[in-house]
Amino acid sequence: MDGAVAVVLMLSAMAVLLFGVESQQRVCYSGPPPEPDPDNPDDWMKQVMQEIRKRCPGRRQPTPVATEKPTPAATETPTPAGTDPEWRLLFKGVAGTGVSLYDMWTAMNWTSSYEASGHRRDNSLYQAWRNGQLHVRQVNLSLHDSSGVRAELIFNGTGSDIKSWFTQTRLISSPWDDLKSAQLTGGHALGQFFSIDGNYERDWRFYINNNFGGCKGDEGWLVVIESNSLFCHWDRQTAAYPYPFILYSATNSKVTWDRVRSNDGTVGRADSLTIHIDAE
Ligand SMILES: *[C@@H]1O[C@H](CO)[C@@H](O)[C@H](O)[C@H]1NC(C)=O
Ligand SMILES: *[C@@H]1O[C@H](CO)[C@@H](O)[C@H](O)[C@H]1NC(C)=O
Ligand SMILES: *[C@@H]1O[C@H](CO)[C@@H](O)[C@H](O)[C@H]1NC(C)=O
Repeated sequence: MDGAVAVVLMLSAMAVLLFGVESQQRVCYSGPPPEPDPDNPDDWMKQVMQEIRKRCPGRRQPTPVATEKPTPAATETPTPAGTDPEWRLLFKGVAGTGVSLYDMWTAMNWTSSYEASGHRRDNSLYQAWRNGQLHVRQVNLSLHDSSGVRAELIFNGTGSDIKSWFTQTRLISSPWDDLKSAQLTGGHALGQFFSIDGNYERDWRFYINNNFGGCKGDEGWLVVIESNSLFCHWDRQTAAYPYPFILYSATNSKVTWDRVRSNDGTVGRADSLTIHIDAE
């Protein structure tokens, strides 16, 4: 038998064993298993278990009790109290691969060859959101580098689409104390932005900016520089950081973008940007 088929069958059986409950048996795992890492079989197993948990989104919200007896499965895997979001990875865009994160996020169709560079998009979830068939409760945009998560922004996703969630009014939390109350509605001429489209003329996307100050004085919180606008010195790629690159304030407030050139640590560079959603 083909190895992949065997693995999928095994995973299905495991999913039923782990999460199946007499009256509501569900196979939570379908589709190809993660690539096994021959050097690290334990890690692979962990990844598989994570995958199964991720795809059983109902698990942490036990059905209102009363009529239902507690099931063995429910007691074996006690659910943490509270209403933790069930984050599912919808998108991952990697810096420095020459492919625009904005284009990958907004394109109707996903090009699977991008995955060779580490980019990811869960296309069925993405399409469901795009088609209004998914109720997204919250959106979690996070920035990562080799030492882990460097920043996370949580948004209210209720009634949003693939672009409209990324606004100041929907912002629930961020690493920056001055962002939620910043005056950002003054318009693009003043350099006030909070949108995925951002400054399309300069190809600055996922752009949260407070003001323009003749390049040297430009201040903001987050920007993905997708390509060369030949506009500011701070938005040029370097050998170490080719396009696209992701800049963010590594302080607890807005930052002057030009300081990325002095490398004083106030402007962070992320290796990747992920978008997770908590959806019904
Ligand atoms: C995108 O997908 C649609 C439907 O799945 C298909 O008809 C269309 O040709 C695709 N477009 C591209 C550019 O691949
Ligand atoms: C947002 O997602 C990241 C993973 O990218 C995770 O580490 C973090 O805990 C999430 N934030 C919240 C508030 O759940
Ligand atoms: C999210 O937005 C919806 C619609 O505007 C609102 O009804 C809801 O209370 C908001 N939820 C949170 C947690 O802010």
